[in-house]
Amino acid sequence: MAKPRTGWRCQQCGYAAPKWLGRCPDCGEFGTFVEEVVSSAPSSAASAVARKPILLGDVVASGAARTPTGLPEFDRVLGGGLVRGSLVLLAGEPGIGKSTLLLQAAASLSRGGSSVLYVCGEESAEQVKLRAERIGAADTIMLLPEVDAGAIEATALAERPDVLIVDSIQTMVDPSLDGVAGSVGQVRACAARLMRLAKNEGMTVIVVGHVTKEGTVAGPRVLEHTVDVVLSFEGDRDHVFRIVRAAKNRFGSVSEIGVFEMAEAGLTGVSNPSAVLLADRATDVPGSCVLATVEGTRPLLVEVQALVTPTYLQMPRRLAVGVDTARVLQSLAVLERRAGLSFGQHDVYVSVAGGVKIAEPAVDLALAFALLSARLDRALPAGIVAFGEIGLTGEVRGVRQTQPRLAEAARMGLGPVFLATPSGGARVPAGARAVGSVREIAAIIGG
Ligand code: TYD
Ligand code: MG
Repeated sequence: MAKPRTGWRCQQCGYAAPKWLGRCPDCGEFGTFVEEVVSSAPSSAASAVARKPILLGDVVASGAARTPTGLPEFDRVLGGGLVRGSLVLLAGEPGIGKSTLLLQAAASLSRGGSSVLYVCGEESAEQVKLRAERIGAADTIMLLPEVDAGAIEATALAERPDVLIVDSIQTMVDPSLDGVAGSVGQVRACAARLMRLAKNEGMTVIVVGHVTKEGTVAGPRVLEHTVDVVLSFEGDRDHVFRIVRAAKNRFGSVSEIGVFEMAEAGLTGVSNPSAVLLADRATDVPGSCVLATVEGTRPLLVEVQALVTPTYLQMPRRLAVGVDTARVLQSLAVLERRAGLSFGQHDVYVSVAGGVKIAEPAVDLALAFALLSARLDRALPAGIVAFGEIGLTGEVRGVRQTQPRLAEAARMGLGPVFLATPSGGARVPAGARAVGSVREIAAIIGG
């Protein structure tokens, strides 16, 4: 087969060049040229045949046919299961557990009667077999150690699996392009081939994409607009939980998360994360407060810890893990000015137990409780849960999704829950107590 003609195009402005250029002569951007296949016969209005558009009202929507993977936490993020003919991208840092999750999903699908073709471009068949033995995967999964996009496409067309898994897009190469595997051009071209398999043949395609801490150039980012579903696998290798989050889902909500734990025999779904996160919590110790946070639509109870010690340094130390340091600095400033307690002679350490990262402002109130409790060296009364945003004037503001947070605290047998004064004169919900400003916190602690 003749090698198709390729050319280079600036991804910024669309300038075409016959060879790679470091800097675009048109828009002046650096490193924007990507190799593309040049189609020999560009269609023009004169040569193309006009087609009759269909009326939206005449389109029959059969509803997305979903196949549950059988892993409840994975199905939850997918919106109930895999949709036939969709292309799903699973992105995450190396070593987070993408291959493990997909092999488990493949095994579960295979046991459920779906045929699965697993393309392992990164590992040998033996390596996959070793992992499969660890997690007890089904022997009926078809394995294909291959990186050539053409061969993968041909095999998929010959075998016609229900689900095609490609691990990973960065190892796949389209031989008609010169670029190395993992380059923007290659990743795009390979993704386009997989998209064709999904849309034309009705196969469900799941593709793995690596992201690096620095943010990758030729990684999943360039695919996000092409694929139907983008799942990101997050978490710290050294911490308890791995979270699968939907960043985009054409067939479902993006507010669901799936929580997993990496164990000896693969990933296990965690249906009750709050219980796991609070399991090792010591009550009766100063500087600890339970925060009711919400991940997607899921309420989660986590422990916010603070340690306040006299400093031996000119510049007191402020260290935060799991919360933005800027948040901690702001909380300290507000507590100094509005609650009248100085932290100037103290080092402050803040941590969220279990390696969970909290980005929402609702952490403020629990943080203030923990900081004041640590500063006053008094443990909070047992069972206290808090959530709410704190403004610069020290006032506590309401946050979204109050009900699920309260329900989660009640379910875990904790309370009272401290929150912002309900707006519009509404009543404080049962089991909850309103806090107007940070000034009241010291009184609650009993300082
Ligand atoms: P892996 O799925 O290969 O990650 P990725 O494909 O995202 O690069 O595996 C992630 C890590 O999990 C690896 O360091 C080994 C570990 N692991 C377990 O702890 N238990 C297991 O059962 C398996 C299969 C892996
Ligand atoms: Mg892998």
